[in-house]
Amino acid sequence: MQTIKHIVLGITGGIAAYKAAELTRLLVKQGITVQVVMTDAACQFITPITMQALSGRTVHHKMWDASIANGMPHIVLSREADAILVAPASADFIAKLVHGKADDLLSTLCLARDCTLLVAPAMNKQMWESPATQRNVAQLLRDGVMILGPDSGVQACGETGLGRMLEPEALFAELLSSLNAELPARPLAGKRVLITAGPTVEKIDPVRAITNFSAGKMGYSIAEAAIEMGAEVTLVSGPTHLTAPSLAEVIAVESGAEMLDAVMANISHQDIFISVAAVADYRVANPSTEKIKKSNASLNIELVPNEDILAKVAGLQNAPFCVGFAAESENLLAYAEEKRKRKNIPLIVANLASEALGADESTLTLLDDKGTHPLAKTSKAKSARTLLSHIAKML
Ligand code: CTP
Repeated sequence: MQTIKHIVLGITGGIAAYKAAELTRLLVKQGITVQVVMTDAACQFITPITMQALSGRTVHHKMWDASIANGMPHIVLSREADAILVAPASADFIAKLVHGKADDLLSTLCLARDCTLLVAPAMNKQMWESPATQRNVAQLLRDGVMILGPDSGVQACGETGLGRMLEPEALFAELLSSLNAELPARPLAGKRVLITAGPTVEKIDPVRAITNFSAGKMGYSIAEAAIEMGAEVTLVSGPTHLTAPSLAEVIAVESGAEMLDAVMANISHQDIFISVAAVADYRVANPSTEKIKKSNASLNIELVPNEDILAKVAGLQNAPFCVGFAAESENLLAYAEEKRKRKNIPLIVANLASEALGADESTLTLLDDKGTHPLAKTSKAKSARTLLSHIAKML
């Protein structure tokens, strides 16, 4: 049995597109990553914004997408997927699949796929029963495409018969049984996890600030992976350009003091605290309420230490399981272990400062009472999953 972790959900133009929204919610809730790809016609029925909010990922519908690293979304999107499900699949789209047409992103990635393709037809009963559609469906079955449904009942057009798309719950069950798949393991089911991420911003005056180069990628990847593994996630985030996972509760903060307040206000019921944020060690003692004017004299700004959020949480009477990060430019393991002891936490994650700030990949080393556990260099998404599995075992 394969574990199904990542689905490309293709949506074509049809009134049943609204059911794709509920299906996405069900899949995401079970820890499955859903990458939505829509045709132009689908966008007439449901908006990409709705699907982005539900899936927590950018929705693709353009063939020429400069945001995809090598400019080839039709290859990249299907290579990541365990399967492609087109739901709803219109009569027109089914005909296109039969002929191997590739005139938009969804049809092109179906043709370029190296994974299973499943299709959930949705159309008027006459369209479904027409010899052309029946011939097309028979050909798709011969090509190894799996057909889920359709169902029968009252249709949007008022007629009754075969052609309705399966309801989201039924489609979800059919998807799993057709793929002979099981859901991803959810070792953090029922656990509450609070994660800090991103930089902090310490104001000097109304237009200037001290901050750092953290982009928040590691913290956001951990939040996404924790949700996949079944956790309820609160993400306390400094300013970033990232999209937070839709199922996380997000608290946006700017300064270290605000981050401390947000963490302390939400820590009492948490099982795990993962402190990924690059919290400024110092803040400006007396930020000016007016813009500081230029002069020829040198400017001295007094900095005072920010409280250490992680050490404070670890010192609480009913402290959650605390995990820290140590980004170092030298003596990586020695400094990390010293921080683990000083902050009195069971687990610290050491990484190179150069990889901690904005890079897409990381080479982490986990340090706990049993010693050091080096992980291979890989994407932050994969590192996040390995880290959380390690945490789940330590709980
Ligand atoms: N941290 C925190 N609050 C702070 C400073 C750091 O919660 N005010 C947390 C970070 O989120 C991280 C860990 O402490 O999980 C280590 O942070 P790091 O900046 O590497 O270490 P510092 O303790 O600040 O020490 P130094 O800057 O000297 O390396």
